[in-house]
Order: sequence, then C-alpha cells, then structure tokens
Amino acid sequence: MAGSAPLSGPSGGVALVASGSARGEQQISNDQLGQRVDTNDEWIRTRTGIQARRICGPDQSLSGLAADAGREALSMAGWDADSLDLVLLATSTPDDLFGSAPKVQALLGARNAVAFDLTAACSGFLFALITASQFLRTGAMRRVLVIGADQLSSWVDWDDRRSCVLFGDGAGALALEACPADQDGLLGFQMRSDGSRGECLNVPQSRDRRPLVDGSSHQGGHYEPIQMIGQEVYKFAVREVPAILKALLQDTATSADQLDWLLLHQANQRILDAVADRFAIPHSQVLTNLANYGNTSAATIPLMLDEAVRDGRIQPGHRIASSGFGAGLSWGAALLRWQGPS
Ligand code: COA
Repeated sequence: MAGSAPLSGPSGGVALVASGSARGEQQISNDQLGQRVDTNDEWIRTRTGIQARRICGPDQSLSGLAADAGREALSMAGWDADSLDLVLLATSTPDDLFGSAPKVQALLGARNAVAFDLTAACSGFLFALITASQFLRTGAMRRVLVIGADQLSSWVDWDDRRSCVLFGDGAGALALEACPADQDGLLGFQMRSDGSRGECLNVPQSRDRRPLVDGSSHQGGHYEPIQMIGQEVYKFAVREVPAILKALLQDTATSADQLDWLLLHQANQRILDAVADRFAIPHSQVLTNLANYGNTSAATIPLMLDEAVRDGRIQPGHRIASSGFGAGLSWGAALLRWQGPS
C-alpha cells in the first residue's frame, strides 16, 4: 500500500512539530548480562552493535514512560495538553490488555483527546504516525500526539541468550499538527504485512480448555515469553527493508542523495549498515543509538529522532527516510520532513 497521494477528499499537510523521549532507568551492560546467561560483551557487540540496554525500574511502567515522552514533546511544541485531539499509543506491551493509551491521556491531562492503542510491534510507531496523519489530512483533527513505547523486558526470556541480549525499554513521542499541504512533513509512505511468517518472532499464548458449565468450556491461558528465530528475522530485514525503501523513494521521486538522514528501526547495527550500503548512504547519515538502548521495539524510531533533534543533528527542513520492521511480520517506510516548533 502506498500513500503519497490521497484517492479523494480534502488533503491538508501534517507538520512534525516536536519530539520527546523516555527510557528505563536501569542501565544493564553486556558484561552484566553475562552474570545471567552464557554471553559476553565481544559477542553481543560484534553481532549486534549493542553495548547496553535500559530496563524499567520498580516504580516505572509502560504508561509512565509513554507519558514522560509525551510531556517532553508537548513542552518542546509549547502546547497545552488540553489542545490535543488524539493520543495514539503504539505498543505491544501495554500495562493493561485493554490498552494503555487512556491511562497516558489521563497522566498527560489531555482531557479533550481520544486515546487508543495500536499494535504493530516494531513497525508500530510508523504505522501509528501514518494512521494519525489521516485524521490531520482530512481536517478531522488538528493536534495529535503519537507515542511509541515498549517495555519488552517484561516479556523477554532472560534465560535465552539468543534473544535476551537484544531488547530494552523506552518511549518516544512526536507532536503532529495539521498544516497547509505545501508544508507537509509526511511526503510518502509504504506499509506491508505478512502473517504467514509471523512465527519468526512472536509472544504466543499457551491455551487450554477449562470447564465452564455442564457441556461447555472456555479457553484459558497465559502469554509465553518472546520467541524468535534470529536468522530468519535477520534475512527478512535485509531483504524487505531495502525493497520498501526503494519503493518509497520511487513513489516520492526522491533519490538517496537527497536524504539528510536514514532513520531505521534500531534492531541490529549490521542491518542498519547493510541497508545504508544498498543505497550508498554514508554511515555518518545513518542515525543510530542502538549501542545504548538495544531494540526498544515501537520506541526506537521516535527515541532516536528525539535525540537527534535535541542535539541539533536534525534541523528544520531535513528529509528523513525511515523504516520500521518486525513481528507480524510487518514493515513500513515513510519519507519525513522535520519542521520543528514555531
Ligand atoms: N552470546 C554468545 N553466544 C550466543 C549468543 C549470545 N548472546 N546468542 C547465540 N549465541 C551462539 C549460538 O548458540 C550459536 O552457537 P552454536 O553455533 O554453538 O550453536 C552461535 O552463537 C551462532 O548463533 P546464531 O543464532 O546463528 O547467531 P547469528 O549470527 O544469527 O546472530 C542474532 C544472532 C540474533 C544477533 C541475529 O540473528 C540477528 O540479529 N537477528 C535479527 C534479530 C532481530 O533483530 N530481532 C528483532 C527484529 S524487530
């Protein structure tokens, strides 16, 4: 599905106004993980680029992280929480199975906003950004906060060295505002899903039948920890991410040398490097903070974006090609133009 041009209806623009982020308060190094599983810093660093990850402390929660990131974005934008029309939370690890966005809305004091969750694993933030933009383009809404947040540490099998070294906890937020079409900050997008390959990476449920009343039963069960076939996921990423980025660039008539930044889901430094090399994008233009955080799922893209906005690398007018990919399987890409607060 491509999205640079609407089929019909009003089409305003979407301004990327401000960002924020939050992270787990405990920093766990690769060497520290070696206390738990048979691993070491050298193996993890050379295979993934990860040096440490942030894990939520006892008083942190997914909703709290998301709200902290959201508050930072509101502060950068200079907006009252009351002015938000929507809080869209991309997460696969809500505090509440019914969804955590309303809790985040309450923590922010965004009394006029509708709030709901969107689940698309590591593609969640991009999918949420694209989804929220539709409300802004049509004029149905004016101001939106899109948050990507995940607390994967609660779902990792900390005794499985093949997967536990990869993940961490974080949140990132983006404040979006309706704007004239000629100032649009979402210049194009692509989205894909392939559920037939979903078992490469999942958090499956164990189900059993339990008696309900005479002659009837109900299903009960619980979620298992994250299961991953690492090599399959790796192959998926290095095949599909270049393909979807190529489609995005074609669709938007953009060449790789017109990009200021490549902002990929932070899963593995080798994946980032392989994708950049396919487009001959210098590694200095590839945004990466994987070393400090590992893979924070829906949070990686906005967390990285926020750090690069705050340290001045991303400037107003910069063009950013972004791609998210992961469980589902799902993957997507978007061509963004940063505006910043006015
Ligand atoms: N420390 C030390 N050794 C480890 C290890 C660890 N943390 N994890 C695995 N190993 C061992 C394996 O047991 C295996 O040993 P063996 O040959 O004696 O059986 C060996 O290292 C190679 O394992 P393998 O799984 O083939 O490694 P790999 O080169 O494929 O790298 C990943 C593993 C996970 C780093 C890599 O497959 C990857 O990055 N995949 C993508 C995962 C991902 O990004 N998931 C999220 C997507 S959103």
